[in-house]
Amino acid sequence: MEEVYPGRLFPLYANRAVANVSVLLRMDKERKLIVAGNWKSNKTNSEAVALVTDLIRELAAVKEVDVVVCPAFTALSDVSKLVLGSNIRLGAQNLSDSGYGAFTGEIAPGMLRELSVRYVILGHSERRQFQKESDALVAKKAANAHANNLIPIVCVGETLAEREASITEKVVETQVRGSLAGLTAEQVESTVLAYEPVWAIGTGKTATSAQAQEVHAFIRKVLVSMHGEAIARRVRIQYGGSVKGSNARELLQQPDIDGALVGGASLESKGFVEIIKNSI
Ligand code: PGA
Repeated sequence: MEEVYPGRLFPLYANRAVANVSVLLRMDKERKLIVAGNWKSNKTNSEAVALVTDLIRELAAVKEVDVVVCPAFTALSDVSKLVLGSNIRLGAQNLSDSGYGAFTGEIAPGMLRELSVRYVILGHSERRQFQKESDALVAKKAANAHANNLIPIVCVGETLAEREASITEKVVETQVRGSLAGLTAEQVESTVLAYEPVWAIGTGKTATSAQAQEVHAFIRKVLVSMHGEAIARRVRIQYGGSVKGSNARELLQQPDIDGALVGGASLESKGFVEIIKNSI
């Protein structure tokens, strides 16, 4: 039997740039785009407040894309008050795998929930690399997020050495299966995945839209084999790695790319706004 995989269900995406029909086509979309700014270990509280104040003003009219900002923990409280009532949602950059208790330096889900945090980035390659986070730990954190009504943004991606050794698919499949292990189908459906090739993060080297689409389609195929086509079709998969205003449109027009996780270009209002406007 011919293999049908979800990207094929959205052939009209390819035409999204055609301005006069784009509104109609957008309404056909099964997955709403989600663009998140990962501010990493940047911005003091007052700098974060200034940036989000600009973003709220500049993005007030945007309805087509879920916009998320992920400041450092120290800025969450003030940013939370500002985004309340706006179309910008709040994300955190990590979460404990436990609840409250004797876990020095950890952030429990309830602390984030009180600040109306909706999303939490998990398993970013920087944490996998520098904090040695494993797929099993990411899966525990993802389960903890879901148990507490937080939506995990689970990151996966191969290093340059792995791409050059032609093991991208093997690496990414292991990460996807391992980092989502133990989640129910419904939890997987509402999880956001982010494919971020490590060699493209902060390097200015973006994957081409074809390279990115190829891996995104592969990830969706893995999701089909884990939870069936109906679930896999609804999972949003962001691309991350040197996304900027000038490449956002082409990347986000790919049938299996459902948004972007943006680092460097999200640190200034102009760059982040440009990405969002170019993705619509
Ligand atoms: P970058 O980072 O946009 O600076 O490459 C992306 C990320 O790490 O999420």
